[in-house]
Amino acid sequence: MKPLITASSSSPSSLLRKAPLPPYLFPSLAFILFVAVLYGENLCMFGQQLQPTRPLSRAEKECNEALPFAIGKEEEGCDIFGGRWVRDESTRPHYLESQCPYIQPQLTCQAHGRPDKEYQLWRWQPHGCSLPSFNATLMLETLRGKRMMFIGDSLNRGQFVSMVCLLQTVIPEGAKSMETFGSLTVFTAKDYNATIEFYWAPFLLESNSDNAIVHRVSDRMVRKGSINKHGKHWRGVDIIVFNTYLWWMTGMKMKVLRGSFDDEVKDFVELPTEDAYRMAMKSMVRWAQKNMDPKKTRVFFVTMSPLHTKSIEWGGAPGGNCYNETTMIEDPNYWGPDCSKSIMRVIGEVLGKTEVPVTLLNITQLSSYRKDAHTSIHKKQWHPPTPEQLANPVSYADCVHWCLPGLQDTWNELLFTKLFHP
Ligand SMILES: *[C@@H]1O[C@H](CO)[C@@H](O)[C@H](O)[C@H]1NC(C)=O
Ligand SMILES: *[C@@H]1O[C@H](CO)[C@@H](O)[C@H](O)[C@H]1NC(C)=O
Ligand SMILES: *[C@@H]1O[C@H](CO)[C@@H](O)[C@H](O)[C@H]1NC(C)=O
Ligand SMILES: *[C@@H]1O[C@H](CO)[C@@H](O)[C@H](O)[C@H]1NC(C)=O
Repeated sequence: MKPLITASSSSPSSLLRKAPLPPYLFPSLAFILFVAVLYGENLCMFGQQLQPTRPLSRAEKECNEALPFAIGKEEEGCDIFGGRWVRDESTRPHYLESQCPYIQPQLTCQAHGRPDKEYQLWRWQPHGCSLPSFNATLMLETLRGKRMMFIGDSLNRGQFVSMVCLLQTVIPEGAKSMETFGSLTVFTAKDYNATIEFYWAPFLLESNSDNAIVHRVSDRMVRKGSINKHGKHWRGVDIIVFNTYLWWMTGMKMKVLRGSFDDEVKDFVELPTEDAYRMAMKSMVRWAQKNMDPKKTRVFFVTMSPLHTKSIEWGGAPGGNCYNETTMIEDPNYWGPDCSKSIMRVIGEVLGKTEVPVTLLNITQLSSYRKDAHTSIHKKQWHPPTPEQLANPVSYADCVHWCLPGLQDTWNELLFTKLFHP
């Protein structure tokens, strides 16, 4: 297959830096030393793996002093999001679908009759460096006594489940659990006193789609300035992974409520999607600024998860979608419909000038090649398909969500990389 060339890698620079330890960090010093002593070598090793061939700088050699994952500011390094997919049967998949009991039936493609496994065998290869291999033990040690929370929509839930699957392989039976409390789902690794959590908030702001189970409303509406409605449940989290995108894509203007959802006569304005989305992004950043300490915590933002609902977009036969697709798109410049470009621009604008660093997981381009990786018809259906649907599977294929194991494991490998190499 042709190489997928997406972006040139940026100039190499120090990936691990010497971080000063201000006095107020003292409470976490024990943790830092613990990690540095036990895992310093591994942290250094990642540096080398990610590093283009050149001698290590003093700062890199002194990586024992580096904070395990908190950062003061963004640094430049290899662009891990520009690259190509490489088939790698020896290291993929990371786990078997049948070995991870936490995958919801909407994502278990093999159990729902998907005939091929090809989509599980791809590894992301950045142009300028290689990703460190995902180390579940190291990740759990890093999360010891900490909370990691994914916040957003069902795509973020998929990434959350992928992370749980990646980690749970090294946790014995009885030392792990998964519980749901309304909008919050919590996976606990007991021996590590660590939790990996998912919080349902598809717009991040308060909306009329906030019920974690019954959220399919036809007339979506978000409330301006309401981030604390959900944000109060995110306080104290050490690593946050946000996403929000799909629910804004109504194809219409977005209804933005100025009053309360309890008002009998709703006071709302209709804004272009980009403006409403920018409002939510800014609220998210402001919330992070108030509630997240960049010296001790991390905030990630996952960009738009692409859809493959119209095969004409990639030069396929009209009327098709991701149904029956088992190969990826080979055009390295493939992007998909333009509407997502304007959202990406908003993300770039808002996150380009934040005070609290938000690490971008720019998964859009690398995922846009993967028309083969969706759940399609191989999932638990909300309603059993009708005879008409069964006769025309394209009509009910899900070309939004992704099979697990699969693409979203790569998103977490990128997260893992960025956690140690801001
Ligand atoms: C994974 O990390 C653990 C803890 O840091 C370390 O002991 C182990 O050697 C690592 N495994 C690999 C394959 O690098
Ligand atoms: C467990 O982790 C929480 C943070 O998630 C922390 O507040 C608590 O002190 C930890 N407990 C123990 C026994 O380490
Ligand atoms: C699925 O695609 C293959 C070629 O990739 C084709 O031979 C087959 O007829 C298709 N099946 C359906 C049901 O469309
Ligand atoms: C994400 O990557 C794409 C190309 O891979 C690029 O066009 C876009 O600007 C990036 N987004 C941001 C916000 O940097």
